[in-house]
Amino acid sequence: MPPPDLNPHVFVVFGATGDLARRKLFPGLFHLWQLGLMPEQFRIIGSSRIAPGPQEVFRDMVHHAVEMFRGEIDHEAWQRFAARVSFVVASDDDGAALAKAVRAAETEMGPEAKRLLYMAVPPSATEPMVRMLGKFDLNERAKLVLEKPFGTDLRSAKRLNAALHEVFDEVQIYRIDHFLGKEAVQNILVLRFANGFFEPDWNLQHVCYVQIDVPEEIDIQGRADFMESTGTFRDMVSTHLFQLLGFVALEPPVRLDAESLHDEKAKVFRSIRPLDPDRVVLGQYEGYRDEEGVNESSDVETFVAMEVFVDNWRWFGVPFYLRTGKAMAESRRTITVGFWEPPLKMFPGDVGGRCNELVLELADDPKIFCDLRAKIPGPELQVGRGRMKLDLMEAFPGSEPLEAYERLLLDVMRGDSTLFTSTKEVELLWQLADPLLQNPPRPKSYPRGSWGPREALQLPGEFGWRVPG
Ligand code: BG6
Repeated sequence: MPPPDLNPHVFVVFGATGDLARRKLFPGLFHLWQLGLMPEQFRIIGSSRIAPGPQEVFRDMVHHAVEMFRGEIDHEAWQRFAARVSFVVASDDDGAALAKAVRAAETEMGPEAKRLLYMAVPPSATEPMVRMLGKFDLNERAKLVLEKPFGTDLRSAKRLNAALHEVFDEVQIYRIDHFLGKEAVQNILVLRFANGFFEPDWNLQHVCYVQIDVPEEIDIQGRADFMESTGTFRDMVSTHLFQLLGFVALEPPVRLDAESLHDEKAKVFRSIRPLDPDRVVLGQYEGYRDEEGVNESSDVETFVAMEVFVDNWRWFGVPFYLRTGKAMAESRRTITVGFWEPPLKMFPGDVGGRCNELVLELADDPKIFCDLRAKIPGPELQVGRGRMKLDLMEAFPGSEPLEAYERLLLDVMRGDSTLFTSTKEVELLWQLADPLLQNPPRPKSYPRGSWGPREALQLPGEFGWRVPG
């Protein structure tokens, strides 16, 4: 990979002792550095309200996290990386020590230095922390990265956005949705707009349904507080799944830049028909209420399946089926585009089954399939179902995919917000979700390790869900 031409950066990771920092951010920054994708000069300052101990203890913590999630690392390389890592305490009313440390790092690195402030903190902490950043002038020359959920409804999202805009300009804000950093998501754009093959068919004349399916085998893994206060709709649907829908459904953008893509996605979100509660199935896995920290009469959903319509000229009448849940049979992230049957059945025998499907597997090892009918070799004209496959790692051997967070961290350093979410998009999605969330259907129970409640299996009609398969 060519080395990027990046300004020196001071990274401040708020919530530095938390799960996200440990799993994704520190291992990600280390990997970018190993790949030569970090600026020549950088400093990483971890911060939270309470120090985990002296500087060495924090560095050991980061070391441990990097080894745990990226494998063993060379001692000498670690020493060179660790020399740029430190910890400073900060709280929502006191950022003096942090501001001093940031300025000292900038003085060492010169006037071109930029700040990247990563809020890996609980949503309730964001607003007061942002005020603190303003109070201590940490917003100057800074880029602010925010984690979802961006509010819990339209009102709170608007309030949060207003509070952010008092301290930061919109161009400084990067709302991260890590699904958009996944390799295969950009492939939707490449597939559609770098080929002449798909785009002419990408509309209601040819497409009869779209499925966006993200079942997860994992249960809540001890995140009871998070699930109880957020639920799967807010955690996965109003963020990741709708963003994927935005990429599948958008009109060709004028350019491949942030503004054009944000505008096109916003147009899609504005076109979505109000959600019909009768076509939304919420579920809760059996045993969820017995999880530690979960209310014994909790009605929080751990599963969502729904039908969505995009009422515009391209998609009117084409159902988009969205599904995701915890404790399901398999983990997959699959987008399926189903095409209409040809008008005339002229071949002998009935192959039946699903029609042509284009399937995108958004795994770390992304693949694209096309399910077609073809002649079965032999003396008779017999039609069967075959599959064309594009394995991207096989097609481009030696390429080095980045983990989603790594890709997005790099984009923030480059100042490219194309794969991030705009204020407008966030507000439109809350506007859509609010009526349903204010009056949600009761979640139906489903066994662990299943494909969700029975009602959800029937949602897409005759052929059901493409996954498994
Ligand atoms: C996170 C959600 O944003 O995405 C989790 O909070 C979910 O609940 C996770 O498990 C899935 O991400 P990935 O990259 O593992 O598919």
